[in-house]
Amino acid sequence: MERCRELVRPALVEAVGSLHPWTGEMAAYALGWSDTAGTPDSGGSEGKGVRQAFAVLGAEAVGADGAEAVPGAVAVELVHTFSLLHDDIMDGDALRRQRPAVWKAYGTGPAVLAGDALLAQAVTTLAEAPGRHAASAVRCFCRTLNALVSGQAQDLRFEHRPWYGPGAVGPEQYRSMAEHKTGALLGCAVALGAVLGGAPDRTVTTLERAGRHLGLAFQAVDDILGIWGDPAVTGKPVHADLRRGKKTYPMLAALAGGGRAAHELAALLDPPQLLDHEAAAHVAALVEELGGRTATRHEARRHLDIARRALRDASLAHTAVQQLDMLFTYVLDRTR
Ligand code: IPE
Ligand code: MG
Ligand code: MG
Repeated sequence: MERCRELVRPALVEAVGSLHPWTGEMAAYALGWSDTAGTPDSGGSEGKGVRQAFAVLGAEAVGADGAEAVPGAVAVELVHTFSLLHDDIMDGDALRRQRPAVWKAYGTGPAVLAGDALLAQAVTTLAEAPGRHAASAVRCFCRTLNALVSGQAQDLRFEHRPWYGPGAVGPEQYRSMAEHKTGALLGCAVALGAVLGGAPDRTVTTLERAGRHLGLAFQAVDDILGIWGDPAVTGKPVHADLRRGKKTYPMLAALAGGGRAAHELAALLDPPQLLDHEAAAHVAALVEELGGRTATRHEARRHLDIARRALRDASLAHTAVQQLDMLFTYVLDRTR
């Protein structure tokens, strides 16, 4: 990841530098490069950089130079930052990467604008990619943006669905939501690397599919961290998903068993926003008892295995596949 970060960094700095100074300052804050005064901040957390690494390794997997993927890597990092910025507004989360979320630090209006600026710059960067593949890359990217929006739409709409009984969110609906909101961009990252590296459609599709499944594993782990993670490590508030009525996998799995315990759990969650810290901790313990955490680990592992198999079945460069594999393991075992 460090090697990919070094490779992408100059172009990412240039892309952020070409924004309007105010939106650029907020973007630099969101990326962990500076504090709210615009002063470089060595203590700021930069994020994991999984998506940029996927793009670089996507190009290398199809036998191209990782440098070919840089415009794609920049585009996915910018869109990822944009999506988190708007996501924290939608989810009402005040903390991101141990610091006030951009909307808390700068206000909601400015944060919306900074997100817009990042999105516009992401498309610009990709459209201006040198070589013959920019148009296909932009097409792939725009499909992903639409997918991301529909995933976020499902996620928000699910907040108002009941926990239990008729109208409850089923596992396939959850998977569709997670695949769109998280899987699409991870799939796109690795696919863009392959597209910019000149790979045939079939290879691009295989890599994209692997990335999407990895995204489903990623989201399952994210759901676990949202309930049992350590906020000092994740940098995000714990139990926020519970209070928001988010239909995360551990909750759905715990409730799926039915019976008295599931009824008791559903009753505690109504209405979720009234859960204080103690009640939320009790819910978390109950979900664990009902097997929600274990089932979610299984779900993550299952998608990781599908992603691995997809990579194995395609004819790709050995070293890049090994490094992708290492990243896959990191995603499953991460604590932030
Ligand atoms: C984030 O989903 C997905 C996008 C930003 C598109 P979540 O809302 O589940 O992620 P966190 O937990 O806030 O990072
Ligand atoms: Mg969120
Ligand atoms: Mg969200």
